[in-house]
Amino acid sequence: MNAPANLRDFLAAQEKKTLLRFLTCGSVDDGKSTLIGRLLYDTKLLFEDTLASLEKDSKKFGTTGEDIDFALLVDGLEAEREQGITIDVAYRFFATDKRKFIVADTPGHEQYTRNMATGASNSDLAVILIDARKGVLTQTRRHAYIASLLGIRHIVLAVNKIDLVDYSQKVFDEIVAEFHAFSAKLNFTSQVAIPLSARFGVNVMEKSGETPWYAGPALLAHLETVDVDSGLADKPFRLPVQWVNRPNLDFRGFSGTIAGGRIKPGDAITVAKSGKASTVTRIVTMDGDRPEAVAGDAVTLTLADEVDISRGDVLAAPESRPSVSDQFAAHLLWMADEELLPGRQYLLKMGTATVPVSVSELKHKVDVNTLDHLAGKTLALNEVGYGNFALSQPLAFDPYKDNRDTGGFILIDRFTNATVGAGMVDFSLMRATNVHWQALDVNKQARAVMKGQKPVILWFTGLSGSGKSTIANLVEKILATEGKHTYLLDGDNVRHGLNKDLGFTDADRVENIRRVAEAAKLFVDAGLIVLTAFISPFRSERRMARELVGEGEFLEVFVDTPIEVCMARDPKGLYEKAKAGAIKNFTGIDSPYEAPEKPDLVIRTVEDDAEAHAQAIVRALRRSGYLG
Ligand code: ADX
Repeated sequence: MNAPANLRDFLAAQEKKTLLRFLTCGSVDDGKSTLIGRLLYDTKLLFEDTLASLEKDSKKFGTTGEDIDFALLVDGLEAEREQGITIDVAYRFFATDKRKFIVADTPGHEQYTRNMATGASNSDLAVILIDARKGVLTQTRRHAYIASLLGIRHIVLAVNKIDLVDYSQKVFDEIVAEFHAFSAKLNFTSQVAIPLSARFGVNVMEKSGETPWYAGPALLAHLETVDVDSGLADKPFRLPVQWVNRPNLDFRGFSGTIAGGRIKPGDAITVAKSGKASTVTRIVTMDGDRPEAVAGDAVTLTLADEVDISRGDVLAAPESRPSVSDQFAAHLLWMADEELLPGRQYLLKMGTATVPVSVSELKHKVDVNTLDHLAGKTLALNEVGYGNFALSQPLAFDPYKDNRDTGGFILIDRFTNATVGAGMVDFSLMRATNVHWQALDVNKQARAVMKGQKPVILWFTGLSGSGKSTIANLVEKILATEGKHTYLLDGDNVRHGLNKDLGFTDADRVENIRRVAEAAKLFVDAGLIVLTAFISPFRSERRMARELVGEGEFLEVFVDTPIEVCMARDPKGLYEKAKAGAIKNFTGIDSPYEAPEKPDLVIRTVEDDAEAHAQAIVRALRRSGYLG
């Protein structure tokens, strides 16, 4: 359609309508695209195009009013970009006389969990498509379960292609009964099943004569009237601070989008983490000061007091504050090809805060067909699990069921920056911050001074048979003759004691290195020069080990021996066995080794003998002042 003559009236009318955000799930074959196409076409309001032309007109007319209206329509999408989720989801806009709609069109290929989570994270309703000929599939159950996990309370079961089963009421009723038997466990507020033919427009825009036995509404009528008010404005006040707005010395405001409740000048607020209190003095927006703001509004608040607040802080209602903890239990959807490894560090992004996190315990996985709990050490692509999370510093958050913005998070891979998981906080776990680190009188420095050295970890990494243990052992011998205090942690030995419960899966190697790194950190605290000789194949865990200790207390020594040489040496006969398939997950054969990118020292054992390398390492230590 053409843009209306009076742009301002048109936008004003649009703005008064309520907005329904929904997503469609199902595979391409289920007729998802046809259904969306039909909705867009039949509403005769191709809003996307309309907006494009409106935007042009807005520029032509040059009034700021229109810009803001446009921004209001796409605000949620900006918020998603801010969240760092940039996935393959197309958003389409359309409107009728009664409502405007944003539909998240999520592709139906294998990565659907990821796309669906993206589309669902701010949707009010999910349309789950079923091919009437195929009935309820595993994928249908998975979509319904994920929708419920992501806090979607309203479901439309669109039983599509009803024309291909001769508009059979029996087929429809059976599908609905089967779906309801499953979805009864998912606590949806509303579930409406509609027999549809997207292709022929049956029950899409209007009730159709083809299904006289169907007494419910047509799809569009239902979407226009379903009451999806989440009551967010009546929840406790939450403002995750996105940035501190300080244009000049006279003004200091805290900007962000209100994630819950309402606020007026004069209201008291508390900074969730620090517990500092103040009072709101002004609510500043692009349109000037406001007497009140509610959930969903983007605002800048000024406060009566000089309070220390930065990005990532949450301003909250003093009488009902979020939890503040560095541990919580949460549901997790895994979205990456590479499996989730408990113990590995990821970045957690919740609202405006980003902190390192690891899954400290995976309690169970969920079978999406039965919702049964299964034991599991890891999560693979598209799997859903539940577990405990340990953050590197306390965060303010709510249970996801109370607030999707302050209780939902994504996990990011620290190396690739890809979004690898989406999580929903269940509840806060006891604050580990109550267990204070004992400040002991004899400290690391005192112990080191007594030993006449600077404590450090020499972290040897390399393939099996590369020469790590041999060289580390020689280095320790030289240091001992010089009266230095050392300790050598060696893979084969540690695996006989502390880590005898661990094997060689990726998950077990992560845990192996985590424990070794923690042990090495304690020895550094004891003032020792620690040598570790582990394959430690993953960059992620080597980085974790580095970050556990202070600056200058970790030196990565890459024993860079080519695999052909290691294989030829084969001191324990293990390569032979691995090649024969008698040992599984052998590093370099059927398990990866990620070489260091910036090692502190590189040892090429093909070029020199072990003794010469050990001497060189000790010289390097002396040059850098570690030996007193
Ligand atoms: S790591 O990958 O978790 O760092 P670690 O250094 O502790 O490994 O143990 C490696 C040693 O275990 C090897 O030197 C070898 O002697 C032995 N080993 C037994 N099975 C394997 C395997 N599947 N992969 C690698 N090493 C193995």
